[in-house]
Amino acid sequence: MSDKVNYTRHGETVVLRIQNPPVNALSQAVRQGLMDGMDRAEADSGVKAVLIVGEGRAFIAGADITEFGKTPLEPWLPDVCNRIEASPLLVIASMHGVSLGGGLEVALSTHYRVAQPDARVGLPEVHLGLLPGAGGTQRLPRLIGVEPSLDVITSGRHIKAPQALELGIIDKMETGDPETLGLAYAAELIAASSPRRAISEMPNPAQIDWDAAYDATLKKGRGQMSPAQAVRAVQASVELPFSDGLKAERAMFMELLKTDQSKGMIHAFFNERAVSNLPELKGVEPRALKAVGVIGGGTMGAGIATAALLSRLDVVLIENGAEQASAAKNRIAGNLAGALKRGKISQEQHDALLSDALKVSTSFDDLSDVDLVVEAVFEDMDVKKDVFGKLDAACKPGCILATNTSYLDVNEIAASTARPADVIGLHFFSPAHVMKLLEIVVADQTAPDVVATGFALGRTLGKVSVRAGVCDGFIGNRILATYRTAADHMVLDGASPYQIDAALTGFGFAMGPFAVADLAGLDIGWMTRKRKAPDRHPEERVPTYIDRLCEEGHFGQKTGEGYYVYEKGQRGGTPNPRITELIAAEQAELNITPRAFTDAEIVRRYMCAMVNEAAKVVGEGIARRPLDVDMTLLFGYGFPRYWGGPMKWADLQGLDTVLADIKSYAAEDAWFWQPAPLLEQLVAEGRTFDHLNKKA
Ligand code: 3HC
Ligand code: NAI
Repeated sequence: MSDKVNYTRHGETVVLRIQNPPVNALSQAVRQGLMDGMDRAEADSGVKAVLIVGEGRAFIAGADITEFGKTPLEPWLPDVCNRIEASPLLVIASMHGVSLGGGLEVALSTHYRVAQPDARVGLPEVHLGLLPGAGGTQRLPRLIGVEPSLDVITSGRHIKAPQALELGIIDKMETGDPETLGLAYAAELIAASSPRRAISEMPNPAQIDWDAAYDATLKKGRGQMSPAQAVRAVQASVELPFSDGLKAERAMFMELLKTDQSKGMIHAFFNERAVSNLPELKGVEPRALKAVGVIGGGTMGAGIATAALLSRLDVVLIENGAEQASAAKNRIAGNLAGALKRGKISQEQHDALLSDALKVSTSFDDLSDVDLVVEAVFEDMDVKKDVFGKLDAACKPGCILATNTSYLDVNEIAASTARPADVIGLHFFSPAHVMKLLEIVVADQTAPDVVATGFALGRTLGKVSVRAGVCDGFIGNRILATYRTAADHMVLDGASPYQIDAALTGFGFAMGPFAVADLAGLDIGWMTRKRKAPDRHPEERVPTYIDRLCEEGHFGQKTGEGYYVYEKGQRGGTPNPRITELIAAEQAELNITPRAFTDAEIVRRYMCAMVNEAAKVVGEGIARRPLDVDMTLLFGYGFPRYWGGPMKWADLQGLDTVLADIKSYAAEDAWFWQPAPLLEQLVAEGRTFDHLNKKA
């Protein structure tokens, strides 16, 4: 017997205990152990029931994702499930923690299910670009009907035990030790001579309008294929006998496993976890964190304070004057009211956070007890240095001084204090209490335990933290500046901002770059262009048409006009005819004859610019690994998760083809399209970005 499944006999019931930490994934050894356990129980005289339980924190978290992409090893999970279900013995699952994917599929192949009230079940395969592949799409609809199954399967969401009971996914909900409860349930079922209940033997569920369900799911997935494909698998449960439905499901699962989308999403799953795992921080203890200071309560400061309060940290927020302090408090109150409305906090917690945990002040003296300060004042080096001077004087020794600057030199800020080892960049994204990304910017002299504390804060706040080095824009904004420039060049050459936005949302971005610019405020880019103008290379192409709009006081959504025109009370905007005129005027001035672009070419140029700059960012050590870039773009810039990130996208395209395209674009603009040395090196060596992830 496999040591991953422990066999014990308790009177008429055998317990099969899965022991595969940390989450009992269904590795080959576990699958074999379950097969052997069933054989042995059936041969064990006097046994009437088998109880399956999980050791540790979960029943079973699903198939072992590390095995995907490798040659499938027998026994296969669908066969294990069929074996369990077909047993003449009564089989019972007692579920605690999570039962996900293949874990729920094992439970659905048993005859009775009991779960703890805080247990969660689900079929999250769509989040890996897959669909349930061990009978989930065939058994669940027979058990609970088509509509609820489609919701569970296409959303991939976790369902809490009370709702699972209501839906009929579990039969019983009870608190206690899962094994003790399961044994009692088995005894009860044996005493009542309860029949085996094989879901596969239940009648086919009722028909629905499958094409409508497919189309609606495809639209909702914004280009992601797996949820829509799952609709077709559920359709098979209605239209085919069980064994044929199972074959159809398996075929679709194996097909999806080969797709770039599932490779991208599996890459995202593992690297979302790996990104905060820095070898350099092994054994480095973070400093204690109980209270944080926030300087400036504007858009970012208020969001950062909200995030800290929602994570149960005390906050002292400093503003410039009484009026600004009151505005900051109102902003935080508004954010917390939103959290209350969405059920994230109770009214009592909301009131306590505002009255006890938050202090808004105009005096830096109130920062004497905080453990870490995040500065979020105006993006101006002199203002920042002035603030850091005051922090240096007001904060206790050991207090970490962080800046939320978007672009400014963290080394220069650190050098303006007497404690540069305690200075770090903590770059949040707007809205800071919602967006998952946190760039942790490590300056030349930042102490290792300060870096460790940055990551600990990220964990406390529920962020995906990425280590970045110091440069203009760090990882994300630096790469953004480059791909935005590629989009600007295409506008000058003839693609409209609206075609570009549409092509990129078609690729899977939540928004196109021009809609994003309108949302962020056109004044930011305008100021940056003015700041960079003195150092501009003579060959750099920078469009000026949008500056004309800014000069007229139009800054995007907040003023009602930008690339788009925004009518009050309407969602989204409509193309601004002024923009089309201004572009035409600039093209005439520069003697450019506009040409047509296909959507595919727009996407390719945009992506090649992104990958090229990202390869420079990795090559220079600003990002340690390609996966750091991928997670930055995924969690801070709306990059479609099903591509895994720009570096994964490039690997999937073939780095040689990406480099070849960059070189062909360089024939038109050699200054902008300088190939990244790292990209050239990887192509020459026949390696991928993923090789660098594995090495790190
Ligand atoms: N396979 C392999 N490793 C897994 C895994 C799985 N299914 N689920 C989690 N792990 C690993 C994680 O990578 C992590 O490893 P690390 O410590 O080396 O980084 C470790 O287990 C702990 O995971 P988390 O850090 O995520 O722990 P949490 O407690 O925060 O979350 C969880 C636990 C809710 C189970 C979460 O890990 C999760 O959602 N896992 C994936 C569940 C899933 O997608 N299941 C479906 C798999 S596909 C399938 O079953 C196909 C079938 O239909 C044929
Ligand atoms: P903002 O203009 O909304 O807020 C700045 C606040 O700082 C104002 O409320 C102002 O009163 C206050 N302030 C100015 N000087 C101060 C001082 N000496 N002491 C105390 N308070 C002072 O600006 P925003 O957008 O919140 O940006 C703040 C910082 O965050 C900037 O460095 C910006 O680059 C960065 N950032 C901005 C993002 C965004 O999307 N807005 C995203 C990520 C970073």
